[in-house]
Amino acid sequence: PNVKGDKISEETKILISSLPSDADGQGKKLCKYQGCWYYHNTLQGVLNFQRGFQPQETDIILASFPKSGTTWLKALAVALLERSKNRSSDDHHPLLSDNPHGIVPFLEIDMYIESSSPDLTKFSSLPRLFSTHMPLHTMQETLKNSPCKIVYICRNMKDTLISWWFFVCAIHKIELKRSILDSIYESFCSGAIYYGPFWDHVLSYWRGSLEDPKHVLFMRYEEMKAEPHDQIKRLTDFLECPFTKEEEESGLVEEVLELCSLSNLKSLEVNKTEKVNNVEHKNYFRKGEVGDWKNYLTPEMEKKIDMIVQEKLQGSNLKF
Ligand code: A3P
Repeated sequence: PNVKGDKISEETKILISSLPSDADGQGKKLCKYQGCWYYHNTLQGVLNFQRGFQPQETDIILASFPKSGTTWLKALAVALLERSKNRSSDDHHPLLSDNPHGIVPFLEIDMYIESSSPDLTKFSSLPRLFSTHMPLHTMQETLKNSPCKIVYICRNMKDTLISWWFFVCAIHKIELKRSILDSIYESFCSGAIYYGPFWDHVLSYWRGSLEDPKHVLFMRYEEMKAEPHDQIKRLTDFLECPFTKEEEESGLVEEVLELCSLSNLKSLEVNKTEKVNNVEHKNYFRKGEVGDWKNYLTPEMEKKIDMIVQEKLQGSNLKF
């Protein structure tokens, strides 16, 4: 999906030639670095990040596997951190004039895609809010000794896969064909998909959250949908910005949830008409339902995915 970053250094080209390689369903080349599959330009962004990122104590990093609720998490984090300055009814609220991806850039796909020393002046106000699709272990060396906070959002693999299918077809403006779903399904199952294997990604953050719960929060899309109040409070507690009694009584929790709801964000002019990195904002908002996979996956596909997930997560205490 990224269009920036065709600057791949000679050093990276040599590294790539030594890495396992594959291609995604659209034939785009992937290479496996530190256990995760990347497009070549994304790998360059990852390496630039590892080389150049300097964490600050107050940094917040929002992490996810693609199509797991990244946009929602970004919107919520922005709304929570902005709430002392802006109520959602305020015309100046950043979420009313930009897409959450425009406000919270990806480290390896946006900021570090072309350089290991990007211009960070936009991040002068604290805390700095970043996002990533990298697995946790790929950031750990760079973040070492920094107490920054990482929030991961996880979604069940079947809905993630269906969401990915719709997204890929939408951004490439191609017909939503069954054959494309079949090839994405095969890639998800083999693990050789952008940022995959899915299970290793999830496990990287799951283990991190168990080892260091003060710095890694593991959230689930399904829980956010089922109990948004409780989950947003988990998030604010983790970020050490809990709602005050007055804020709760004034209805601020509901206000934030409404501002960040799929229907509200989708209806905003900025998300209907504009683009970020050549991706139309509207493509980030679809149905947002739990279990939509039931409308598309065959019973055999369901069975195979369940089997793979069960096998891969065995012993981890993580359930889907
Ligand atoms: P569906 O394709 O199942 O509808 P990401 O943000 O990681 O790209 O994930 C996209 C998925 O999150 C899409 O799922 C999209 O509809 C859903 N989504 C986007 N914004 C949302 C919001 N504010 N609330 C709930 N779901 C949202």
